[in-house]
Amino acid sequence: MPLPVPVPPEGVDPAWLPEQAFRPLGTRRVLIRGSGPLVDTVHGEVAAACERFGGRVDRDASPEPFDLSLELTGTDAAEAFTFERGAGRTTVTASGPSGLLYGLFHVVRLGEAAFRGEHRRERHSPALTLRMLDHWDNVAVHPVMGQVERGYAGGSLFWADGRARGDLERVRAYGRLLAACGINAVAVNNVNVHATEAHLLTDRIGEVADIAGALRPYGIRTHLSVTFAAPMVLGGLATADPLDEGVREWWAGATAQVYEAIPDFGGYVVKADSEGQPGPFAYGRSHADGANMLAAALAPHGGTVHWRAFVYDHRQDWRDRTTDRARAAYDHFVPLDGEFAPNAVLQVKHGPMDFQVREPVSPLIGAMPHTRLAVELQATQEYTGQQRHVCWLGPMWSEVLRLRPEEGASVGELARGGLVAVSNVGDDPFWTGHPLAQANLYTFGGLAWSPQADPGQLLDEWVGLTYPGASTGLWEALRKVLSGSWRTYEKYTAPLGVGFMVQPGHHYGPSVDGYEYSPWGTYHFADRDGVGVDRSAATGTGYAGQYTKAWAEVYESPETCPDELLLFFHHVPYGHELKSGKTVIQHIYDTHFEGVAEVEAAMEVWNSLAGLVDPARHARVAERYAEQLRSAREWRDQINSYFFRKSGVPDAAGRVIH
Ligand code: GCU
Repeated sequence: MPLPVPVPPEGVDPAWLPEQAFRPLGTRRVLIRGSGPLVDTVHGEVAAACERFGGRVDRDASPEPFDLSLELTGTDAAEAFTFERGAGRTTVTASGPSGLLYGLFHVVRLGEAAFRGEHRRERHSPALTLRMLDHWDNVAVHPVMGQVERGYAGGSLFWADGRARGDLERVRAYGRLLAACGINAVAVNNVNVHATEAHLLTDRIGEVADIAGALRPYGIRTHLSVTFAAPMVLGGLATADPLDEGVREWWAGATAQVYEAIPDFGGYVVKADSEGQPGPFAYGRSHADGANMLAAALAPHGGTVHWRAFVYDHRQDWRDRTTDRARAAYDHFVPLDGEFAPNAVLQVKHGPMDFQVREPVSPLIGAMPHTRLAVELQATQEYTGQQRHVCWLGPMWSEVLRLRPEEGASVGELARGGLVAVSNVGDDPFWTGHPLAQANLYTFGGLAWSPQADPGQLLDEWVGLTYPGASTGLWEALRKVLSGSWRTYEKYTAPLGVGFMVQPGHHYGPSVDGYEYSPWGTYHFADRDGVGVDRSAATGTGYAGQYTKAWAEVYESPETCPDELLLFFHHVPYGHELKSGKTVIQHIYDTHFEGVAEVEAAMEVWNSLAGLVDPARHARVAERYAEQLRSAREWRDQINSYFFRKSGVPDAAGRVIH
């Protein structure tokens, strides 16, 4: 039986699955072979398209002739599919049902091209088996963080005011969008697990099961963030010590019940001993002890624990220059390499600090060869404009994934435990608040499927699907506003990798000294002579020495350190000459003026598209551009004035600095 295609509520943007994107498929004669729930999903998709556009679909029959056959040839868990075309027929085969679903969306992506000419048989297979989104969604509205922590797209898709939101049709539509870009796992609640959310694990697991049921037809497994203190908060035990027999039994029992409710449950996500969350340190145990206890509870059911490596001292004394937050994840976890259970995945943020616009790759990646690592990216734009600024992160993510921390293996290859992104989606009609931020979600899916993919090509795919039939002019314009937007954002915000300089708490907008004397460990050390953090091994915190030899050498000296990371690794005088030939201070002035000019230009391009794109989308983006420009000017003026006043060095071009 075909499964009906989800219909999201009136007014919800179709994102990259508008009906028109299904026209090429929907005008054809299609044969589907195979059985099972995901084949029913495929059948439903094709049936809806054919009904709309006049094609025809048959299941397990032999109608002649037909244009496309989608064939399930086995029952395994493989997600790969093959695509070929010959003798006027397009054929997709897969040995596992999710493979068939991905094959279908591949045909949609190709559009008419899937039905033209000849194609040699190609096999498409995801490089990473886990491609996951972590939702930082709270069930109850948190007094400080709201419904979604660091969420910029309205409320949660899953929860509202302490309850399940209950809009499962919208959740199904979400699952459909995710499957169409290759994502196969979702964690449905915040890594900071507050009192209400803790109960999702036990007495409220039914609500999680409903979400899992809505996502399952699109090949997505559901995961849950849990609190390490659950045996105490939920089970009434006196301890949560991971080596205590009673605690281990409690987790085994609770986990068995989770699997009764959700047989294909993916596993747990845990933030422990980090930013105030409970963890094994209270009992003198290690992160491996903690993770392995949960791994043991999950193992009989095929689940995985994602143990986050975001652990650092968040009560630092700013006067103490020996403590370096950037060092923390490596210092905590590298000694534990080899101790983690096979179904424990260490989830590492891509940079050593916290999702800044520019950070080096975390030295932890590559330093734990006997541990399964997942790399965590942030699609929600906490530090990159909060979905009020256009900031397409594809190029940054791709740089990270292609970097080779050691000879041979790239970050994408070292992420054997998967690629994870903090979701940028909410109940907003455009899903992501800023309609152009949809491109980040789509690109993340593509990079998780293939970390070596060309992000520009993924952007083109997104444009092709989201704007079916786009003229060359529209296509060019969309590329223009998106492709360089990350570098533009970098130009008008914190310079040369120094990071932060944001308003404390909500993290939007400039405040150069906002975190300078705080306990969070995010300093820039600007004075009248210079700026930046000395993280060299010779004279600094030693962080640079955490890298493998080749990279340690590059970062150790200001002469070899790449310009864009100079202030992350070194404290230099304002007159220090960059490889570009400019001094640091002149670079700061120039990039801040350029960044704003680039926003002005992009805004003009967007305004010229009125009438060419859907009016609601156009209006929303135009409104966000007005705010982006205001904010970019604010950044420019605060940063430039701050450094002019500190250094006393005038702008060589004599522009207005306040
Ligand atoms: C950042 C973010 C927090 C989040 C944390 C995490 O610090 O500001 O809101 O909880 O990252 O990744 O755990």
